[in-house]
This record gives sequence, structure tokens and C-alpha cells, in this order.
Amino acid sequence: MKFIAVLWCAVSLFFSVDAFAQQKFLIKFGHVVAEKTPKGQGALKFKELAEKKLPGKVEVQVFPSSQLFGDAKEMEALLLGDVQIIAPSLSKFDRYTKKLQVFDLPFLFPNLEAVDRFQATSEGQALLDSMTRKGIKGLAYWHNGMKQLSTDKGKLQVPADVKGLKFRIQQSDVLEAQFRAVGANPQKMAFSEVYQALQTGVVDGQENTWSNIYSQKFYEVQKTIAETNHGLIEYMVITNAKWWAGLPPDVRKGLSEAMAEATAYANNLARELNERDRKRIAEAGKAKIQTLSKQDLAAWQKAMAPVWKKFEGGIGKDLIAAAQKAGQ
Ligand code: LMR
Repeated sequence: MKFIAVLWCAVSLFFSVDAFAQQKFLIKFGHVVAEKTPKGQGALKFKELAEKKLPGKVEVQVFPSSQLFGDAKEMEALLLGDVQIIAPSLSKFDRYTKKLQVFDLPFLFPNLEAVDRFQATSEGQALLDSMTRKGIKGLAYWHNGMKQLSTDKGKLQVPADVKGLKFRIQQSDVLEAQFRAVGANPQKMAFSEVYQALQTGVVDGQENTWSNIYSQKFYEVQKTIAETNHGLIEYMVITNAKWWAGLPPDVRKGLSEAMAEATAYANNLARELNERDRKRIAEAGKAKIQTLSKQDLAAWQKAMAPVWKKFEGGIGKDLIAAAQKAGQ
């Protein structure tokens, strides 16, 4: 009897291990932007690479344009296991860590090269693991690009031009303070709602990258886009920490490799796509692209400078210093 029980245990253990080894993992990767953007292309590249490296072991389904979950739900959905990978903008992590607010400080990073340098430092890399206790694991940073300011009003040359105007912002207290610093009224809003809010005049303007302004057609409902480069839209590709830790080692390894390659691909593409979309917007001739002199930019920078002091306690002076050093 005892022998039969032991045999039964061994047989069932064998089959469950075998089932685990043969299990095919369905990985849902959801995001809020269009496919022809840096993040959209990065997600598709990750799918291609992951399925090639792990044939029969994983299937990656990519859901663009908030089709699966929008801004309001995607983090909770990740923690509940309803989606396995998402890539929110770093401006959307306020509730999980204050440290990532460093990326929202106006005029901190002069360009994407500075962002690359900061992210490669030990401080930058440590941020990927800063939310594991909350159940979130950072897999990579992905670029979009520098933010520009747009409005349906005539000009955006100096900070006084936005006084009293309503601007849509992402879910970020830093961005809220940034717009208040220049006398504007910020309004937090999900990305999928922005076009309609601009079109119907719920808000007067917004800030975003060329790639998002083009792919969401914001340029069709805005008169002016000022080339301010005052901040950035940058992503963290994240997963559910528990789900990730529970994957068989070979699957985790293959996915990590696919992510590293997709990251290099997406980050290279980001500059090109933003340049391409800036050109397309200029050619369309609907919104005027306003370039700003050094003096004008200095006025914006000065007006927004108090934001740094306000958030330095939560972010940490050392982290801000490390980011500043990368920008020099
Ligand atoms: C936004 O909400 O404006 C952006 O974060 C959207 C995105 O993911 O690029």
C-alpha cells in the first residue's frame, strides 16, 4: 500500500514537472500609444524576439492604444496578473515611488544622451528595483523623447503666454507644480482622452513628444507647438515581480535577452521617429512650430526652477545630483 502511494506521488510529481516544463506562457503586453511610435515598435520587437528565442514556450500578445487597459487601470491590472508587461511613462509612478519624479524635473536633462548616461549609473539602475516591495519589477528603460508644449492659442514664447490656460498633464505631481509655476491650470487626464479634450476645448493645450503629437493627431487641433524640449517622456517597462520570479529560469533568461535587444532597438529608433514626426507635422502645415531663442528658453527655465526645490526632499538630493552630472 505504502509502495503504491510513493509510486503515485513520484508519477504525479513527474507529470507536474513535465507539465511545467511544457507549459506555454501567454504574455500580454499592453500600452497606451499607437503602434508607429518608439514604444509601439519596441513592444512588437520584443514579441518577435521572445517568440523566436523561446519557440513553443511563450506567446506574446501586444495591445496598443489602451486597447487592453488605459492609464487609469494598467498598474492595478499588472498587480492583479491581468496583464504581464506594461510600459508606463515615468511620470505615472507617483503612487509607487517618489524617486522616479527625478525624470519629471523641468530642464534637468538636456537630451536623450544625458538620460542614457544617467540610466546607466548605479543610481539609475537601482531605480528599476525600487518598487519590488510593491510588487513591481522594472525590466528596462525605453525612450520616447523630449517634450514640446502645444496650445490652440497663438503663441507660446514666454511663460506669460500660458497664464490662465488649461493644460492636460499626465498623472504627476511634479508636472502639476511645473504648470502652476508658470501660472497655468494643469489637469490630470488619461492619454486616451487628450485628443477629444483638446478638440472640444476642455483644455487649451498639452505637453508631449513629436511622436505622440503626430500619432494622436494633436497637431490637427492645436495652433502652436513650441519647441521647448523642457522635459521628457521616458518609460519603464515593468512586470509583476511575483510572476517574473515564478517563471522557469530558461524562460526568464530568454525574456531578459529579448528585452535587452528590444530595448536597444527601441531606443535607437526613438530619435529617428521623433525627427520624422516633427517633419510630418511641419509639412502638414496645421500647427505652427515655434522655435524659441536661448533667451526665451532661459525665461521658461527660470520660471519653472522652483519645482526642483519643492520635490527634492522626496526624490533625494543625491539622485538629482547624479542626474545633473549625467547632463553635463
Ligand atoms: C502621456 O500620457 O502623454 C504619455 O505618457 C503617453 C505615452 O505613453 O507616451
